[in-house]
Amino acid sequence: MAAGFAEAGADLELVGITKRFPGFTAIEDLDLRIPAGSFFALLGPSGCGKTTTLRLVAGLEQPTAGRILIGGRDVTNVKPYQRPVNTVFQSYALFPHMSVINNVAFGLRRRGIADPYGKAHEALQLVELDHLSNRRPQQLSGGQQQRVALARAVVNRPSLLLLDEPLGALDLKLRRQMQLELKSIQNEVGLTFVHVTHDQEEAMTMADTVAVMNKGAIEQMGAPEELYELPRTAFVANFLGQSNLFTGEVTSSGGPTGAAASIVVAVGGAKIEVPSERAQRHSGRVTIGVRPEKLVLHSSQPKKEAGTNVLGPGRITDVSFSGVSTQYQLVLPGFGLVTVFAQNMVFGPVVNLGAEVWVSWNVDHGFGLLDEPEVAPKFEPDTDTATIAAQARRELMAEIEEG
Ligand SMILES: Nc1ncnc2c1ncn2[C@@H]1O[C@H](COP(=O)(O)OP(=O)(O)OP(=O)(O)O)[C@@H](O)[C@H]1O
Ligand SMILES: [Mg+2]
Repeated sequence: MAAGFAEAGADLELVGITKRFPGFTAIEDLDLRIPAGSFFALLGPSGCGKTTTLRLVAGLEQPTAGRILIGGRDVTNVKPYQRPVNTVFQSYALFPHMSVINNVAFGLRRRGIADPYGKAHEALQLVELDHLSNRRPQQLSGGQQQRVALARAVVNRPSLLLLDEPLGALDLKLRRQMQLELKSIQNEVGLTFVHVTHDQEEAMTMADTVAVMNKGAIEQMGAPEELYELPRTAFVANFLGQSNLFTGEVTSSGGPTGAAASIVVAVGGAKIEVPSERAQRHSGRVTIGVRPEKLVLHSSQPKKEAGTNVLGPGRITDVSFSGVSTQYQLVLPGFGLVTVFAQNMVFGPVVNLGAEVWVSWNVDHGFGLLDEPEVAPKFEPDTDTATIAAQARRELMAEIEEG
């Protein structure tokens, strides 16, 4: 089957994918299943392996180990142009000598699809650039070029559309607008979108499923709300929004028969309660967390009520106004730096710099992590680069002989 016009999106499955570059492991034993028709975001910091993953799916890179299936078909050894995949790259490459409309119609014409220009105009209307269809790429702004690149990919109706930071060149307002547009394009055409970004807000707004990637592995995957409200690892807790994390020993853990189904963790002389079902671990040393907007500031010691955690007193060390909310930093002896976001419901700050404060939160808002905030790198550079280079050479020789 050649890449043709797909009626619908296709499932994408990565099974045990490892990608080693000479001296560097970019992807380690990655398993991933993306159902047909979903808008999937791959989110992670620079260098974590997002582009590499897309290049593997597109066939521009061969995995060191593992298999790739699209629509149930094993495409691991299928040439890039024979895969039902289109990619919008981090650097959008338009043909400079062709007009916008010819850029978009190019793939359709090459494959002999009926009415290439009609379809190309439709795609340009989707990105609101049809009025500029006779211009050359260099007569467009960077953001407009990026939208042409999008139209050029969408018009081919690939079963799988890979988007590598496709909105990177846009200013914030246009970026927001394009996010919504991309989402409605995906709704309209029903294809499977895999969107790569390092912008957590973008991932959360656009995707129905977000996978958080760190150092070549997926740490957690799920609906945006789920990931935000219940992060499982310290990396996810801090990469997707901000978190206040505290590490201590579990002193009691109410099982199913306990009075309250929660764990109690001793931190800095205080006891913090976390619902058992929201904690990954129930004994020993654990790290627990709470989001800054879940904290309430008090300028006098609040009464300790059942179902709330109270910490303090501490001192406000920073107040930053950011429009809709104000961010407070406070130092709580025994707990370190704590961040609180408060919505600006009243004029001026709720508490001032240097003020003595307490914080409280609803026990139900806390979460318990699987790990602790770490520092050590996960991948040591591969020592055996000579072996990898030798293998690459053997493979190349084999390919040349075949051809
Ligand atoms: N051909 C290559 N040879 C050696 N190392 C490579 C090669 N391509 C990528 N890498 C390394 O693999 C890691 C992952 O790269 P990748 O391009 O996938 O990152 P990314 O998540 O897309 O980052 P960014 O957000 O900066 O685009 C990086 O450390 C990179 O240096
Ligand atoms: Mg990249």
